[in-house]
Amino acid sequence: MLIKVLGSAAGGGFPQWNCNCSNCQGVRNGTMPTSARTQSSIAVSDDGHEWVLCNVSPDICHQIAATPELIKHDVLRGTAIGSIILTDSQIDHCAGLLNLREGCPHQVWCTSEVHDDLTSGFPIFTMLKHWNGGLVHHAIRPNDAFSVAVCSALKFTAIPLLSNAPPYSQYRGRPLPGHNVALFIEDTRSGKRLLYAPGLGEPDATLLEYMYQADCLLIDGTLWHDNELAATGVGSHTGKDMGHLALAEEQGLITLLSTLPAQRKILIHINNTNPILDESSAQRQALTEKGIEVSWDGMRIDL
Ligand code: MLT
Ligand code: MN
Ligand code: ZN
Repeated sequence: MLIKVLGSAAGGGFPQWNCNCSNCQGVRNGTMPTSARTQSSIAVSDDGHEWVLCNVSPDICHQIAATPELIKHDVLRGTAIGSIILTDSQIDHCAGLLNLREGCPHQVWCTSEVHDDLTSGFPIFTMLKHWNGGLVHHAIRPNDAFSVAVCSALKFTAIPLLSNAPPYSQYRGRPLPGHNVALFIEDTRSGKRLLYAPGLGEPDATLLEYMYQADCLLIDGTLWHDNELAATGVGSHTGKDMGHLALAEEQGLITLLSTLPAQRKILIHINNTNPILDESSAQRQALTEKGIEVSWDGMRIDL
């Protein structure tokens, strides 16, 4: 299985367009050892020819342009993206569908809860009906394995996550199990397994079982501390409010990762306030010592 990280930042990207926090200034001015990052998305493939796009960020057009694997040279119009899977209905994971309208119809896999949000509060499915067949919905049922037309060697399972629904959703603060899912992706030829969970609020027993089985974890690195937005002065939401388990809390993600056998533990969906973005920071060094990697745009993982 091949995995390309298209965007390793959380919503807003890094630097965020309107932000002058020390991280955003540091990357903008080139005074911090780090690299700019676009918003959260990966692509996976079984052969490197056709790819499954997992989440479609508002930066998708730049991400495609920066990813030679996704460019198809033998067609007048088209890319190597054969199917799309959404893990939730957050703006940073779905808004890029609007930018892909010239390529409709697209085959889009998501749960019925995500589809409901995307036909009501943020009606992209409804809007894009007016573009050549729009988005063709394939319903994901949590915990039932499925495969998509391209990359038939990959078996996908969506695992419900305890997180939150988007701010615009009528389910904000009272999400249903299908509002956020992790993707467990197994290569049926090699047996290798990836767990992708860019928005993880609180692990439960089922998720822990899957996390334990994964050879590679690509997982929620949004915040270092739960109160980081307030501490930086950029906002008031905590990680808990937003459905993100912070890394360094007592029962945080670092503690959890240290109990898991995966060969690779890689953080993704990193918010611009997170000190791990500074490659010279003590927090980044602490991760390195624990064998935890920080993903970057363009990172390729051969699993
Ligand atoms: C999140 O991951 O919590 C959201 O993407 C936040 C947002 O909508 O900006
Ligand atoms: Mn997000
Ligand atoms: Zn910032």
